[in-house]
Amino acid sequence: MEAPVNTEKVLDIVRKHEDGWGGMIAVLTDIQYVFGYLPEEALRIVASATDTSLADIYGVATFYRAFSLHPRGKHHICVCLGTACHVRGAQMVVEEFERQLNIRPGETTLDGNFSLETVNCLGACALGPIVTMDNDPSTKVRPADIRKILKTSWKTDTEATDSLGVTVAAALGQEMEEATTI
Ligand code: FES
Repeated sequence: MEAPVNTEKVLDIVRKHEDGWGGMIAVLTDIQYVFGYLPEEALRIVASATDTSLADIYGVATFYRAFSLHPRGKHHICVCLGTACHVRGAQMVVEEFERQLNIRPGETTLDGNFSLETVNCLGACALGPIVTMDNDPSTKVRPADIRKILKTSWKTDTEATDSLGVTVAAALGQEMEEATTI
């Protein structure tokens, strides 16, 4: 579900960076921090407040992969598909996430618990394939490790065990249901 956009909050962010060095990137970074992504409504407010075309703002928002135009899942999975990781089998890792979560890169599970994304390099090429789960890196990841990575996120989630369990149980089958007793 998309977050409601508080116009004053967006304008506060614009004002905060009015005289700063960060420019539009700093504004968008703060908006994403507040809303979890860049809602179109917020970008329209920024465009109006800064006398910048919406197309230019989208240009910045889509150039940097750190920005997302869609709500991300509660848990954000990022798989490196840079050359070094790719030659070590990162594509198979992506396909295993796709299979277990039933989503493609750029998508979020229906219950909003997991989103999947790929990037071109995470800066630790010698340890690839690299996967981050909520910015927590796993190195030398193989398809067989995906189950454990998903389990770890699930086990450390203390806020919404029930709803998260829906996704993981669906993705991992009976084994995850048994894991609820851990
Ligand atoms: S190519 Fe994956 S970390 Fe550099």
